[in-house]
Amino acid sequence: TPIAVLISGRGSNMRALIEACERPDYPARIALVLSNRPDAVGLEVARAAGLQTIAIDHKPFGKDREAHERKVDAAIRASGAQIVCLAGYMRVLTPFLVNSWEGRMLNIHPSLLPAFPGLHTHEAALTAGAKEHGCTVHLVTAGVDEGPILGQAAVPVLADDTPDTLAARVLEQEHVLYPSILSKFISDQ
Ligand code: GRF
Repeated sequence: TPIAVLISGRGSNMRALIEACERPDYPARIALVLSNRPDAVGLEVARAAGLQTIAIDHKPFGKDREAHERKVDAAIRASGAQIVCLAGYMRVLTPFLVNSWEGRMLNIHPSLLPAFPGLHTHEAALTAGAKEHGCTVHLVTAGVDEGPILGQAAVPVLADDTPDTLAARVLEQEHVLYPSILSKFISDQ
């Protein structure tokens, strides 16, 4: 199954998906890596892996989020992708893109949703005194970080954790969870 991976930055989850897709028994292949930031480090990683990449900068579109998304949507469709994986894609989506890929767009979020939606999840988990934290792969719906949960992985919160040490422990699990849930999602279709 051809997929598109949408990133904005470092792209470590994208890299985990690339590595999974290199396994002969894995049910997805990456048709496109798309970034809204032309300088995303992840784009270089994807190019080095020989993947098709495109940057569609959101800045020239100003406040017209949908105009940007129409370009993004067209690029995804042109690639032949049938599933979209958001992987650190730091844009709030309008109903246009959400509806365009309804039931076929996945996101990874660094918390055990419904706890700690939005940004700065590791800091929020520490502030709340959470004993457990983790990550969630979910379907994307109109509400940010609110779609049906496809899978989660938990890690303990340790007494001496900082947002950075906790983030690193969660990220390790993200890299396992995302490929695993995507594979299940495709097999269940
Ligand atoms: C990850 O923590 C992901 O869960 C969140 O943004 C971060 C992206 O990291 N949505 P990377 O670009 O995949 O390294």
